[in-house]
Parts: sequence; structure tokens; C-alpha cells
Amino acid sequence: MPVRKPVFDPPFNVVRASHVEFGVRDLAATRAFYVDCLGYLVTEEARDALYLRAVEERNHHSIVLRAGREPTVHALGFKLASEEDLDRAAAWFARKNLPTSFPDVPFQRRTLRTADFCGMPLEFYAGMEQADCMLQRYSAYKGARIQRIDHINCFTPDVQQSYDFYTDLGFRLTEYTETDDPDPKLWAVWLHRKGNVHDLAFTNGYGPRLHHIGVWTASALDILHICDVMATSGFLANMERGPGRHGISNAFFLYVRDPDGHRVELFTSDYLTVDPDLEPIRWSLRDPQRQTLWGQPAPKSWFEEGSLFAGVPAREPALAAQPIVAR
Ligand SMILES: [Fe+2]
Repeated sequence: MPVRKPVFDPPFNVVRASHVEFGVRDLAATRAFYVDCLGYLVTEEARDALYLRAVEERNHHSIVLRAGREPTVHALGFKLASEEDLDRAAAWFARKNLPTSFPDVPFQRRTLRTADFCGMPLEFYAGMEQADCMLQRYSAYKGARIQRIDHINCFTPDVQQSYDFYTDLGFRLTEYTETDDPDPKLWAVWLHRKGNVHDLAFTNGYGPRLHHIGVWTASALDILHICDVMATSGFLANMERGPGRHGISNAFFLYVRDPDGHRVELFTSDYLTVDPDLEPIRWSLRDPQRQTLWGQPAPKSWFEEGSLFAGVPAREPALAAQPIVAR
């Protein structure tokens, strides 16, 4: 069976997806996109990096933009429950012969850098410098009025292997896409730790690559508003897909691309998944309502384009099955 029972006593306790570090080629252009257009708050501005957070976030950063020559992704960050969990995580990855180190990471307490089986760069930590919560300072709400990071979505060359790897770490399946073969294969999985549809999702494709980060807005109206803003302020070409409602997750969404092509999903209105007996929802790869409840297929770029991880080779997926694709 491709789908397994959840693991309720994982080797260490992941709380949630927490942050991502993007390599960007033009810090000023990228600042204009994230800060001036989307409305991110700047917690720290260094010569070669910007540290951003959204209005609800007390963590110092949920997006790091680091100037560089390649538009690659440097780290996918997850918060752990305690320093002891961090030691347990380091021991677990070392036992699997995966790389482990504890570099100094600005604004974060002890941070474990490691990678999963196919090289996705992971960063685990338990404590980060705290910043003012701007949740009730409504004058700080700009652009899409983004509240917090919600999830990380990646291409993997082997969905089953990614699913097994993260299930062992206590990530729980909420929804999945399967092929319709007599011997069905997993094509995509949505996995959570924090109690909504996902912290981490995987889609079959050339990988590993980052497909997108999902960031939460309080309502669909915030997403409609940023559509109007982007369409009339020079960012029309950065809108890739939507707005719409997903079949999977039931979320209202808009996908946008930053100046380097890194993809951000504005996302709201999914649902609670904390029940231990929650049965995952199965979707057929050929179901047109899977991608968009209203039936529109996603564009080709959405299935083909993503951000490489720095220094990590990607490969074609083992599974050749294709979803419904728009031109
Ligand atoms: Fe997403």
C-alpha cells in the first residue's frame, strides 16, 4: 500500500514549516516585489540580505533574501519543539548517514543544517530572535496583508520515497493524488505537523526543486485585492495562476513569481486536521477539480518550472504519469 498509518511518536518533534532562504540576483528588484508590492515587513536589512516577516509573525524572519549570482534556494526551515529535539534530530540524520552541521545562522539559536535523502537542504532550530507582532497594528498592513508562512511545496523525483521519509519524521498525510493504475502510484502528497492541510507537500517532477512557499492571508478578499494591485502597478506578468479555489485543501489561492522566478502562493481558507483518526482524501490524477475546484487546469509553467536548491543536482522523476495541463 502506498499510504501508511501516521507516526505519532516521531524521533524528534517538528512544530511547523518556518522559513525559507532564497538566493536572488537583484536585491533592490526583489525588495520592490516582496516589500513594496506584497507588503512584507523588513525586520533587518543587511548589505547582502533582507530578512522579512509578515504581520502576525513574531519570529525574526520567515523569508530571507540573500544576494547572489544564482536564483537558487539555500534552506528550507522548520521549527522544533525544544533544544533536546534538535539533538535528537542531529543524531537521527547522522544515523542515516546524511550530512549534519551546526553553523552560526544570524538571528537563530542553535541551527542544524542537514538534507533529506535526495539532497533537499533542511534547517532545524528551536529558537529564533523575536520581533514585534504587528497583528493589531493595522496601519502596517500593506499589499496582500500576508499574516504568516503556511507551507513549503517541492518537486521530488520520487513521491513515494519522500512520503515515506517525512512520514517517519511524524508528518501526517491529509490529501494525496494517485494514478488510476490497477497498482496505483503516489503522484503528490500533502503532509502536516501543525494541524492544517500541510506544512510540506511533494509533487512528482524534475527534482528536488522548490515549487513554492505558501503564505497565509486572513481572507480571499486580501487575495482579490493584491490581484488588482499587481495588475495596475507593473506586476501583471508576475501573476502566474489564479485566483481560484483548489480542490485539494479547499484553499483560495493565487500564485505569483518573484523577479528570479521563485514562486509564492497566497493561500487561505483550508481546514483543521488535528484529529488522530483523520482519513486522508484521495484524488485521481485525471480529476479536473483536483487542481481547481472550478475546473480550470493549471498552466504548463506551473508543472514544469521551479527553483533549484544550491549545489543539489536534480533528476527526472521515476513516474511518467501526467496531470491535465492548460496551455
Ligand atoms: Fe501550496
